[in-house]
Amino acid sequence: MTKPAMRVAVTGAAGQIGYALLFRIASGEMLGKDQPVILQLLEIPDEKAQNALKGVMMELDDCAFPLLQSMSAHSDPKEAFKDADVALLVGSRPRGPGMERKDLLTVNAQIFTVQGKALNEAASRDVRVLVVGNPANTNAYIAMKSAPDLKPENFTAMLRLDHNRALSQLAAKLGRPVAEIQKLAVWGNHSPTMYPDYRFATIGGQSVAKIINDDAWNRDVFIPTVGKRGAAIIEARGLSSAASAANAAIDHIRDWVMGTDGKWVTMGVPSDGSYSIPEGIMYGVPVTCEGGKYHRVTGLEIDEFSRERMDLTLKELLEERDGVADLLK
Ligand code: NAD
Ligand code: LMR
Repeated sequence: MTKPAMRVAVTGAAGQIGYALLFRIASGEMLGKDQPVILQLLEIPDEKAQNALKGVMMELDDCAFPLLQSMSAHSDPKEAFKDADVALLVGSRPRGPGMERKDLLTVNAQIFTVQGKALNEAASRDVRVLVVGNPANTNAYIAMKSAPDLKPENFTAMLRLDHNRALSQLAAKLGRPVAEIQKLAVWGNHSPTMYPDYRFATIGGQSVAKIINDDAWNRDVFIPTVGKRGAAIIEARGLSSAASAANAAIDHIRDWVMGTDGKWVTMGVPSDGSYSIPEGIMYGVPVTCEGGKYHRVTGLEIDEFSRERMDLTLKELLEERDGVADLLK
């Protein structure tokens, strides 16, 4: 028997991430090959953006995806989020060369108060929200705070791209396949202060940290390479990452909905006070997913080096939070 369709709202649908994302959602890569979907696409009212969105929808039509039950274009977030089961908040300005993601805070923050309120009013009470637009953690925090009638745990920020980047860097260092690496974590903000942490990681059952056994490589190569990867891509491409970002968004939602089978992944989630991260801050942590829910990996030992790194990225998130406090009054 055919499953009832799931409603997936995507903002910034005519942008570069949107273009790399929508076709994969419609083909069943995000929610499953037996899961029909309805796409509810949001763009700014601007004629050029709405026309571009029409073009993308024509292409979606031309793929004749069996799972794509219907789609609609919107410029009003309340309409786009109506009964949404999944909301991918991508639409916002990307940074250019020489900018840090937090430089986007004032430009993009407003979008997420409006969209948080619209989700609060219109979305399914169980909507799963993933914020991709930068600065992703603080935008997710703003959306969550603007939606008091929805459960805070339904709001997440994307750190999966950082997780995937860290996996690839480790696999290259070890000369082994990515798929063999387990129990990696990325803590904190999706910014250069993030802390990719392989202290608990294993490969083929052996400790990655023991095999690498090189603190200087960790500190001076691995952590900065992962942290500055977004900027390196902007430098090389002249545009911010898009296909890899869309891929990470698909991974994030697929794992949240379908489970990770015990595997650790990283999600930016509202802190519950564990690991001395104050409650409510959108902070990247290792999780496993089961039964449609994420569960923090608890009880990990935090050594002095890690504490410093985790506090540094927390400090930045607290500053970002204070920077948007006025918006949330
Ligand atoms: P883009 O400029 O190609 O597309 C963004 C789209 O959003 C545009 O079509 C624009 O019209 C639309 N938009 C802007 N404001 C909107 C609003 N209020 N409602 C609906 N749509 C709106 O940008 P992109 O490359 O697709 O990147 C989008 C965002 O994702 C940027 O903020 C970028 O920095 C971020 N990003 C995050 C990650 C991550 O890992 N979290 C990775 C890559 C990019
Ligand atoms: C990335 O990490 O690639 C994105 O957040 C884009 C950016 O501005 O770095």
